[in-house]
Amino acid sequence: MTTEKFIRYLASKKTVDDRALNRRVWDAMVDAAAGRQPRVLEVGGGIGTMVERVVEDGRLLPRSWTLLDAQATLVAEAQRRLAGRVPFPVEHCTADLEAFIDGAPPGFDLVVANAVVDLFDPARILGRMRALGRPGALFLFSITFDGLTAIEPAMDPDLDRRVISLYHATMDGRVVDGQPSGDSRAGRHLLTLLPAQGYRLLEAGASDWVVYPRGGAYPADEEFFLSCILDFFEESLAGHRGLEPGELERWLTRRREQVAARELVLVAHQLDVLARALSPYP
Ligand SMILES: C[S@@+](CC[C@H](N)C(=O)[O-])C[C@H]1O[C@@H](n2cnc3c(N)ncnc32)[C@H](O)[C@@H]1O
Repeated sequence: MTTEKFIRYLASKKTVDDRALNRRVWDAMVDAAAGRQPRVLEVGGGIGTMVERVVEDGRLLPRSWTLLDAQATLVAEAQRRLAGRVPFPVEHCTADLEAFIDGAPPGFDLVVANAVVDLFDPARILGRMRALGRPGALFLFSITFDGLTAIEPAMDPDLDRRVISLYHATMDGRVVDGQPSGDSRAGRHLLTLLPAQGYRLLEAGASDWVVYPRGGAYPADEEFFLSCILDFFEESLAGHRGLEPGELERWLTRRREQVAARELVLVAHQLDVLARALSPYP
């Protein structure tokens, strides 16, 4: 996917995430940070839609927000989108998360990772991320994928099942810089890994994406969002040995027709988890 298209994908994802984010977890985060003017670090912040959401919500009043992402073009887009629209200072930072951890003085009050932890090996990154917060800091791990994708209406149930399970397996097989980097069940793993790695769970709940047409149309730019999800299937599974020649093409053609006909429904299961870093640091 080109960077231009990925930027539009992240923008189109905003309304989907807005509906999905777990209200109980979000309110617990706002309540826990209330009156504290937290210094916030957002990792993998993309084009800044979480900053927009916090401004729209209006209840969290950060002293500062550091938006970190590995991709300079996304950080530049965040800078462009947010300019003049945010009533607190936003620092834009292009850096790899692990390099940032190695170089960062700890001390953030709130660390946010939205749709990010499932791109890493959670067993490794969660322990490392703890160093980003001061003792007692809050951590919000939201929109963390958790291993279940449903696409309706069924096309060919056996092929549907194989395509989706192979797609999940590609998340688990991702390797970045020689390290396993991806977990298709990261959401549920947060619930056991966080307590084992020096965090206390404060709140958790589902934050499923549910995308469906209403009155013959998808809301906002969600038709484009769905087309990107199908593109991700194509990118991940093209030439995959687990599928017969032509099967993926047949599946994608039918699924794209269903999007164009405003018939396709997507449900993706995810979890939001709010945790507190215990002190002292190990
Ligand atoms: C699925 S996107 C989510 C973006 C944003 N949080 C949102 O929900 O719109 C994942 C983001 O993590 C960033 N990312 C991936 N690996 C990273 C790394 N090692 N260090 C920093 N950012 C990373 C990507 O560039 C991308 O912007």
